Amino acid sequence: MKLCMIGTGYVGLVSGTCFADIGHTVYCVDKDEAKIEKLNSSQSPIYEPGLDELIKENYKANRLFFTSNLSEAVNKSDIIFICVGTPNKRKSLSVDLKFVYQAVKDIKKVSKGKKIIVTKSTVPVGTGDQIEKILKNSKKFTVVSNPEFLREGEAIRDFKYPDRIVIGSNSSSIFKTMKNLYSPLINKGSKFFTTNRRGAELIKYAANAFLATKITYINEIANLCEKINVNVEDVSLGIGSDLRIGSRFLRAGPSYGGSCFPKDTKGLISIGEKEKVDLSIVKSVVKSNENRKKLILNKISKILKNKIKNKKVSILGVTFKPNTDDMRDSMSLKIIPYLIKKGAIVSYYDPTGEKKEFENLSNCNFYMNINDAVKKADLIILHTEWDEFKSLNFNSLIKKRKTSLYDLRNLLNTEDIKAKNLEYFSIGRPKIN
Ligand code: UGA
Repeated sequence: MKLCMIGTGYVGLVSGTCFADIGHTVYCVDKDEAKIEKLNSSQSPIYEPGLDELIKENYKANRLFFTSNLSEAVNKSDIIFICVGTPNKRKSLSVDLKFVYQAVKDIKKVSKGKKIIVTKSTVPVGTGDQIEKILKNSKKFTVVSNPEFLREGEAIRDFKYPDRIVIGSNSSSIFKTMKNLYSPLINKGSKFFTTNRRGAELIKYAANAFLATKITYINEIANLCEKINVNVEDVSLGIGSDLRIGSRFLRAGPSYGGSCFPKDTKGLISIGEKEKVDLSIVKSVVKSNENRKKLILNKISKILKNKIKNKKVSILGVTFKPNTDDMRDSMSLKIIPYLIKKGAIVSYYDPTGEKKEFENLSNCNFYMNINDAVKKADLIILHTEWDEFKSLNFNSLIKKRKTSLYDLRNLLNTEDIKAKNLEYFSIGRPKIN
């Protein structure tokens, strides 16, 4: 099939490349010509393990094209995916759809034949209806919702082996075409699920808010564990082994972040408000996640005995999760400015390099290697669970200095933390020394 992806951000680029990899011909369109030029020299503008190679292979095989020429891409394609950004409006919970609606107007202007228009961006319930209005209910276009469930850092695997593929349309004749599109994945066992268009739009929000709820719940249980000498990982395992609960997304941590959970929980509350439905659980989740950030900052202060001024603090990993360079809503964006404000001297290391977010902070320095970053630290904060931090030898890293380590991801095995001068703190585990 011939496909057009509008927007070469995370969703458009990963999905487009993976669609090409399962045999379709894909035209990825972006208004940003510099980006298109970069892609045409087979360089990915985003950090995603495996994506560079996949772009190169499919580009070479003439299945993947990058262009700024919307008209050409639209008219060569049967299905057009809208993959543009849907940020929250400033100072409001609601979602800004200007990029989606602009893309629809642009398609309408250039499109000649019959087209299926699919929203892949996360859009509020009823957006498909609005798109139909913009298209003046023309019979030329069928509007479909096909939310994506890709996780950053694992997106290629998530695309190729999805738990389910959700298609929402008000015209059931379209389901056969969409099933054909995904047949290489369905043949390998992925579940294909159809519903009406509003149903698919809601599924995306409900899924992300549910996952955020799971994380927030275990984070609160971790707070309790710290008071009563219980290991939260035992609780995660103990409850997660019940198939009705499920073991995934029960890792306690510093608070959920990234470009999706914070935005989509708020987006769902806003949808509820519009419909006059009180989504009180989701509201509590958002509030609890915000409170957690303060709680973690207080704990850091407590570890430093409330004397932060001139303390040397080293942060390992600053992105919101591993295998990505994404800083959006990362807890490090709270921790580092807080420490600097209180007079600490901060050093940080991240496998994806220096971050512009900290460039203008005085007393905050990036180091290219872990050794240099933690040298002389009074406190090391293990912020992101990169694999390379799992086997660190803290004995040789800290030498004989007395140092504290705050492991925000429970990455280290308490048995392995044998360094004599190291005081170890973690999330929801009994204290070991
Ligand atoms: C999330 C969803 O998992 C994807 O299914 C969805 O497609 C995507 O949002 C989206 O809407 O585009 P993502 O934000 O990339 O994916 O990352 P996650 O792996 O879900 O992690 C989100 C946050 O939750 C991170 O801050 C992570 O550290 C935290 N988390 C995750 C935990 O604290 N504990 C866990 O057990 C899992």
